[in-house]
Amino acid sequence: MSRKQGAAYTLGFSALVCLVCSVFVSFSNVSLKERQELNRQVDKQKNVLVAAGLATSDEKLSSEEIVARFQSIVPVAVALRDPNQPKGEERKPGSGAVLSDVDATAVDMVAAMQDENASLREPANKAGILRVPYVGVVYQVMEGDRVARLVLPISGKGLWSTMYGFMAIAADTTTIKGVSFYDHGETAGLGGEIENPSWTARWHDRRLFDDAWQPIFAVRKGATGSVAEDPHGVDGLSGATLTSNGVTESVRFWVGEYGYGPYLKAFREGGR
Ligand SMILES: Cc1cc2nc3c(=O)[nH]c(=O)nc-3n(C[C@H](O)[C@H](O)[C@H](O)COP(=O)(O)O)c2cc1C
Repeated sequence: MSRKQGAAYTLGFSALVCLVCSVFVSFSNVSLKERQELNRQVDKQKNVLVAAGLATSDEKLSSEEIVARFQSIVPVAVALRDPNQPKGEERKPGSGAVLSDVDATAVDMVAAMQDENASLREPANKAGILRVPYVGVVYQVMEGDRVARLVLPISGKGLWSTMYGFMAIAADTTTIKGVSFYDHGETAGLGGEIENPSWTARWHDRRLFDDAWQPIFAVRKGATGSVAEDPHGVDGLSGATLTSNGVTESVRFWVGEYGYGPYLKAFREGGR
């Protein structure tokens, strides 16, 4: 084979290999998309179950087991902002109304927060939340036909990252029943301890609101006592005060007037 032919052969062969590989990659990407979406859904359901106390974070569960446990949970779509509010107008709290014509299982709040067509810009706030989705989701944990708990998605800025989690509260809308953080970029061993089940267990039965329904729950610096001694506070993470403060502000934002507050008020007054 001549030198010239050799080069042409090498180039042609490389191009063919590239073509075959790209066809293979595109094909697997398309064929795996559905499966990836399903896995994402199941993963989200597992995190909701952990917050709701229906699974533990270290429990190995198959997709079928997760889906089966999720049977007692009804996701509902809730109005967090008015999509008809003119852009640039001062923000208003959402109505908190349950949107029965919206399929709550199809609502992706994390994606909506990055989508100008699905969320409204939020003025500067201590939780570092940039946009609030028009539509939020509340997971109602049923016991028979009674709503026993509500699981709320929460998010906000820590020191290095946006932290995402779920928090379960009792039907009184103030008593915390569980929390789980499933995504963040805080430092392992410091802020990353928000994932530690022995820390999140300390949240159990602490309360979100004061008597006037203002959110006062806080991750305090240092240790707190029992629930009776400090009903509204949980121990800070040592060496991670900035992450701890971010958690406090995130919780307060989402249960407050500009988060799920209007929904929670309607729920406790009307039991829906
Ligand atoms: C490498 C490195 C990583 C850190 N990661 C975190 C973190 O994830 N969360 C946090 O709040 N503080 C973190 N800190 C510490 C903060 O800079 C700050 O000192 C701390 O939040 C103060 O908390 P303390 O008053 O409990 O010590 C980190 C510091 C260093 C040097």
